[in-house]
Amino acid sequence: MNTDIQEIISKTGTERNRLLPVMQEVISRNNYLSETAMRDIAKAFDISAAEVYGVATFYSFIDVSRLGRNVIRICKTISCDLKGKTDIINAIEKHLRIKLGETTPDQKFTFLQTNCIGWCHQSPAMIINDKVYTELTPEKAIVALEEWE
Ligand code: FES
Repeated sequence: MNTDIQEIISKTGTERNRLLPVMQEVISRNNYLSETAMRDIAKAFDISAAEVYGVATFYSFIDVSRLGRNVIRICKTISCDLKGKTDIINAIEKHLRIKLGETTPDQKFTFLQTNCIGWCHQSPAMIINDKVYTELTPEKAIVALEEWE
């Protein structure tokens, strides 16, 4: 078993409700949850790897593939959709020259969608890493990206 995971689990324990915190800690250390990490976690929690994968892929903040250094997550839920998230997506895709779900060739950005991030009253909204950007326009979205370039 990976020593990172052993160390994390030695602190959190393996109660079922510790599964998500363990996944989040692995991601904060390694950027994503690899297949090997999922197998190690399954073994430690005495559950199937399929169950770990099922939990991981249910949550849009649990990444099971390697991501760029900066992760953009644009809200795809209804308030943001109605307030023009498609225009924001188009502007970001054009600026970064990638499509949603892709990572730039220099690994600087990954562009993803997520469910509601709780800023519906100031939609459209997105998060870059852990910073929230609200009331976006295509221009404001590009300025936000430039903070991380
Ligand atoms: S619908 Fe987009 S933040 Fe809630």
